[in-house]
Amino acid sequence: MSSQLTWIITGTSSGFGEIFVKQILARGDKVIATARSLSKIQHLKDAGASTLELDVTAPQSVLDAKSKEAIAIYGRIDVLVNNAGYCGLGTLEDVNHETWVQQYNTNVFGAVDVTRAFMPHFREKKAGTVIFVGSIAGWAGSAAAGPYCSSKFALQGIAESFAAEAAPLGIKSMVVEPGLFRTSFLKPDNTNFMETQFAEYKEMTEGLYGAMAQYNGKQPGDPEKGVAAILDVVKQEGKASGRGMPGHLLLGTDAVATVRKECLETLELLKKWEDISSSTDLSE
Ligand SMILES: NC(=O)c1ccc[n+]([C@@H]2O[C@H](COP(=O)([O-])OP(=O)(O)OC[C@H]3O[C@@H](n4cnc5c(N)ncnc54)[C@H](OP(=O)(O)O)[C@@H]3O)[C@@H](O)[C@H]2O)c1
Repeated sequence: MSSQLTWIITGTSSGFGEIFVKQILARGDKVIATARSLSKIQHLKDAGASTLELDVTAPQSVLDAKSKEAIAIYGRIDVLVNNAGYCGLGTLEDVNHETWVQQYNTNVFGAVDVTRAFMPHFREKKAGTVIFVGSIAGWAGSAAAGPYCSSKFALQGIAESFAAEAAPLGIKSMVVEPGLFRTSFLKPDNTNFMETQFAEYKEMTEGLYGAMAQYNGKQPGDPEKGVAAILDVVKQEGKASGRGMPGHLLLGTDAVATVRKECLETLELLKKWEDISSSTDLSE
């Protein structure tokens, strides 16, 4: 896929989203940068992107209208990147129902609803690519990180199911799973650290929040390189040339190490518990 593509990206006011827009322009493609506030992406418009106000948690009717508006800009969309997201942390007991739902509304239903809005266009063209930005957090849960981890687990399942539904229609899809990358993601404004009300969780939450604060600005992943790798895969350029699109694209040595560990531990778990796991089929 080396011809000029038209992209739309959610959440481009900072981090991966902003870098996507700049690199897409640099490769000679067209891009619609979207954000909740247009004033935050004026610089992307000045750089040559089209811009559109888009909150991924808007009702479906609004998202459907936004997709029509977006398609009208260049007459087509080839690639949708569901990038918008934030990190909600806290124990199951401390994070109330509304706050869990908010996390899912952005990270999960935002991506689902925006994708649904563009599907009529992709189905009509019998072509299109949908990228879901998941996370290594979707491979391994950790204490006091349930809202974020589980939202990315959900996105992984949604992306795998969607890829299987969409492939026969000529539509490609992949979930990208970065490790820790140096964006503004862990800044206190962007990550929702829920303080615990319970003495029993104090050490646990303080440990995680302290570690996150220490990681901020020291994450090993280079977001420029991460975005370049995604563009290479979508455009089948560079190291990805001629290799097609994987269902999952892990990014970062930390992500590779986590998935390897999870897979080995899962094999161990199967071995240790297989006698019980395999003892429950009907006998006839
Ligand atoms: N950086 C990492 O280490 C890392 C690792 C794994 C996965 N990820 C994923 O990468 C994606 C981008 O994160 P990032 O690292 O680039 O962090 P970031 O710099 O904080 O960017 C997050 C973006 O999402 C936008 N956003 C949040 N809620 C939104 C909504 N309701 N509608 C539209 N946009 C919304 C934010 O826009 P506003 O300015 O409007 O808030 C911001 O532009 C996220 O899905 C994140 O989970 C990041």
